[in-house]
Amino acid sequence: MTLPAFIYILRIGNMRPIPSGPQPPQEHIMILITGATGQLGNAVINTLIESGTPAAQIVAGTRKPDAAAALEAKGVQLRKADYADPASLDAAFNGIDTLYLVSGDAPIDVRIEHHRNAIAAAVRNGVKRIVYTSFVDTAEDSPFGFARIHADTERTLAESGLEFTILRHGVYADILPAFLNGYAERGVASPNQHGKARFIRRADLAAAAAKVLTTGGHPGKTYTLTGPTALNMADIAAVLETRTGKPVAYHSLPTSDYASILVKATGMPQWLADALAGMFAAMDRGGYDIQTGDFARLLGRDAMPVEAALVAQLGL
Ligand SMILES: NC(=O)c1ccc[n+]([C@@H]2O[C@H](COP(=O)([O-])OP(=O)(O)OC[C@H]3O[C@@H](n4cnc5c(N)ncnc54)[C@H](OP(=O)(O)O)[C@@H]3O)[C@@H](O)[C@H]2O)c1
Repeated sequence: MTLPAFIYILRIGNMRPIPSGPQPPQEHIMILITGATGQLGNAVINTLIESGTPAAQIVAGTRKPDAAAALEAKGVQLRKADYADPASLDAAFNGIDTLYLVSGDAPIDVRIEHHRNAIAAAVRNGVKRIVYTSFVDTAEDSPFGFARIHADTERTLAESGLEFTILRHGVYADILPAFLNGYAERGVASPNQHGKARFIRRADLAAAAAKVLTTGGHPGKTYTLTGPTALNMADIAAVLETRTGKPVAYHSLPTSDYASILVKATGMPQWLADALAGMFAAMDRGGYDIQTGDFARLLGRDAMPVEAALVAQLGL
């Protein structure tokens, strides 16, 4: 047997099916997706529609229904849903069977409270199942402070008494270009040293979400959804160098220096810059280089490798 054939058989042998056996479609359930005008929530709604879920079974939860006319035009019902406003959540979750809960974007303690509000409202209003967008590494001592939010929300879900499924997302491949501005002149910089991450596109995460939302067999499961290749930031610089044919140096910076640069260059708030700098530092602990095979078992294919995603996004 050739080595590639042997490796293939090992991989297949390791692929327990998710879920086991043929799964009936979840018919006539009402699914509410929060963060519906955000990039992930919007992608999940569009993927559901494209893969055959009737728009009449989909509810878009958003703080800004006025900005969701495109979804309404597709037959999706719009409801105001703000994690900071429990009354809006009560009205939004009424009659909903399955809630796809997109993690919010506030500072750590505020966001913990927001997610608790959403889960409490789901319990009050008879929601049967929550599918939550967590993160690949939920270690509470992570230099990436947002990991604490996901750890708390996963715990709150487990204690809620509702059916839940946790989708632990790898770092989005889509966010990389924002950290590569000026690479041709200045190279690439971040606090990352050698540790790698398995970046994954939102579009692939949306495909996995649509599958989990519309098939049975997922209660109590945690799926870690990561890309097929692991790269550190120096590897990313090397991809850029190869594709452009021009040198792209990599500079590893102290976390606090990098956070200051982000604030100065983009005007983002300090709490967000600290979190993002911490995320690149956290790559070095190994918790972002996780390959469970969950994505391939759910969808029967691999996610797009980050190298291909970068080439497409940067037009290389
Ligand atoms: N794994 C990663 O690498 C990674 C990277 C970036 C972000 N994330 C997380 O994944 C989430 C989705 O990512 P994304 O790219 O879709 O971000 P995004 O485009 O910024 O969308 C996030 C959406 O969350 C919703 N939201 C924020 N605060 C809310 C609140 N108080 N109540 C209700 N909804 C609220 C908003 O939806 P409406 O405007 O429609 O209300 C917002 O548009 C982010 O919010 C963040 O938690 C993960």
